[in-house]
Amino acid sequence: MGRLENKIALVTGSGNGIGRATAELFAAEGAVVYVTDVDAAAAEAVAGGITAKGQTAHWAAMDVSKGQDVSSVMRRVKAEQGRLDVLVNNAGLNVRGDFRHMSDADWVKLREVNLDGVVRVARDGFDLLRASPSASLINVASIMGSRGLRQLTGYSATKGAVVALTKGLAFEYAPFKIRVNTLSPGYVETALTERILRNPIFEKWLIDRTLLKRLGKVEDIAKAALFLASDDSVYMTGAELVVDGGMTASL
Ligand SMILES: NC(=O)c1ccc[n+]([C@@H]2O[C@H](COP(=O)([O-])OP(=O)(O)OC[C@H]3O[C@@H](n4cnc5c(N)ncnc54)[C@H](O)[C@@H]3O)[C@@H](O)[C@H]2O)c1
Repeated sequence: MGRLENKIALVTGSGNGIGRATAELFAAEGAVVYVTDVDAAAAEAVAGGITAKGQTAHWAAMDVSKGQDVSSVMRRVKAEQGRLDVLVNNAGLNVRGDFRHMSDADWVKLREVNLDGVVRVARDGFDLLRASPSASLINVASIMGSRGLRQLTGYSATKGAVVALTKGLAFEYAPFKIRVNTLSPGYVETALTERILRNPIFEKWLIDRTLLKRLGKVEDIAKAALFLASDDSVYMTGAELVVDGGMTASL
């Protein structure tokens, strides 16, 4: 018996990286998973891989920065399932650069996906989560949501806002038996970090600062998402689960 048997889950941005590993683990644990991504081909491929293993997945093209995309996918899930037990706000991106040179367009792009997308999905998913006897909403932020680093100021600002948003949502959704938690990864090897991790000096700098002496793998984060999704975390809401190999525990 899997840990998510009889649960319906939706993961945003699950065509690649952490979202993909999370969708695959959820399906392996018995959930019916909706794989959604702005990259439709990636979502379709991930869902196809899951169903090829005899597990259950559906896919949808969904850009979290587009209100129409989000509401139409939520309408479809309502028609097909009537509820959502697990909703993971994972879609995110980064636009690197020195803050003083950041264009309005770059800031809007960051904010529209990393913050507005989370707001929209959390709001439009409410009715489906309320229909579950025990719902879990997981917002993926970052350890950068509470600290600063060169060329990451805009990204940090969006992720810090997600941490604060999660606490407010935990308060507002608790009466409806919806738990809301933040999952904050450290540095994980994905397409998002590929370019910076190609710099061996920066990579060594990061590993030196990580107590467990390695970067994160997508599976490390997916396992933490599974914990927050399952009833094992039934007494957690409004919390931030940091999964960073101890990077932020040390100086
Ligand atoms: N990789 C890390 O080190 C790290 C660390 C902390 C937090 N995070 C966060 O984890 C989440 C996943 O990141 P990742 O490293 O797996 O990145 P990734 O680039 O490998 O995957 C992100 C996925 O999100 C999708 N996406 C991008 N914009 C979207 C949009 N508007 N609507 C829907 N989907 C969209 C992409 O197509 C992609 O499939 C992000 O929120 C990221 O900020 C990552």
